[in-house]
Amino acid sequence: AWAGIEAAPPDPIFGVTSAFRADKDSKKVLLGVGAYRDDAGKPWVLPCVRKAEEMIQSKQYNHEYAVQSGVAEFAKLAAELAFGKDACILQHGLNLTVQSLSGTGALRLAGDFISKFYTHSKVIYVPTPTWAVHNVLFKISGLDLKHYTYYDPKTIGLDFCGMCESIRNMPERAIILFHARAHNPTGIDPSMEQWEEISNLCKERKLFVLFDMAYQGFASGDLDSDAGAVRKFVDDGQQVALCQSFSKNMGLYGERIGACTLIAQSKEEQAKLKSQMNFLIRHMYSNPPLYGARVAMHVMGDPELRCQWLEDIKTMSARIKTARQQLVDGLKKAGSQKDWAHILNQIGMFSFTGLTKEQVLKMTKEHHVYLTMNGRISVASLGSNNVEYVANAMHAVTK
Ligand code: LMR
Repeated sequence: AWAGIEAAPPDPIFGVTSAFRADKDSKKVLLGVGAYRDDAGKPWVLPCVRKAEEMIQSKQYNHEYAVQSGVAEFAKLAAELAFGKDACILQHGLNLTVQSLSGTGALRLAGDFISKFYTHSKVIYVPTPTWAVHNVLFKISGLDLKHYTYYDPKTIGLDFCGMCESIRNMPERAIILFHARAHNPTGIDPSMEQWEEISNLCKERKLFVLFDMAYQGFASGDLDSDAGAVRKFVDDGQQVALCQSFSKNMGLYGERIGACTLIAQSKEEQAKLKSQMNFLIRHMYSNPPLYGARVAMHVMGDPELRCQWLEDIKTMSARIKTARQQLVDGLKKAGSQKDWAHILNQIGMFSFTGLTKEQVLKMTKEHHVYLTMNGRISVASLGSNNVEYVANAMHAVTK
């Protein structure tokens, strides 16, 4: 049956993990996938999550099916987290928020839904560069993928003029994807003033805006301010779609917990969106798993756990900032004359180092340091044990 089949390309992110696992060298370091580690390089279960797990144990929940849209209380809290508790769209019941299989699952739901029901355009624009999954997933959903200008390699910063120019040239009513905060892979975001201009431009072009919010809390350590761009667009009256992930900000990677939101213009329309989304889910995976939703629901909904969560997010974002500094200090100590200030200025889990493909290959081959081909490193994987080694390797391949 499969005689003509060819192998799929290796995954640009998880493929790095596989290569790392196969390496027998004891010095090896994995800076590929974005997953938070403590200073000793160990996965970190957030204390708020541990407490939520205890609560779940004591509640003796059953294991009945969830409805297609998942745990309702979780979805409500997720929407409030993103849009703000007092957001008009929530007050008026215009949002449809469903539990998803984390951020990727939310994107797939949004992609399939838009492809099927958004009749004005089939073209989705994503930034250059963007998270590798964006470049494939939307095509599988049946959309045409195009790119807009985002990053300027010369300044290692945002090409804001180029970005605005790209948006001005988009056909009316096309679909555009933004990273809500902590752009992956560059760690470079527009300022709030720039978001305001971007929102106006999107309105002018009547674009349909899809936000991918995978790092709420990770950029600034503050959940509300990291949702600023999304809230700005909603305040401007735009009917955005939103994909949320709780992988990073609750450290629930393997539990696959996220949410997908669409916004309707009336309650009647909301009910129709809901029935169609449920139909889609029913025929994709029937209904989502309960565990991650229960954990996230308790973390967001219990006042004491929520306070702990805010602490935990600050712990993670502060450690990442320290690791950035340690890396830059290490590069200096290693003798690098280069300007590495961008490592300090970028935000979120990653740094887009500026290493070329050749330099990345050398990092891996000669130093056993594993990172994605685009030069991105997960700063969250640096710690006291490996930062000096990584800095020396980076200096060795860039001098
Ligand atoms: C990453 O970019 O490393 C993360 O978002 C993990 C993933 O699923 O790729």
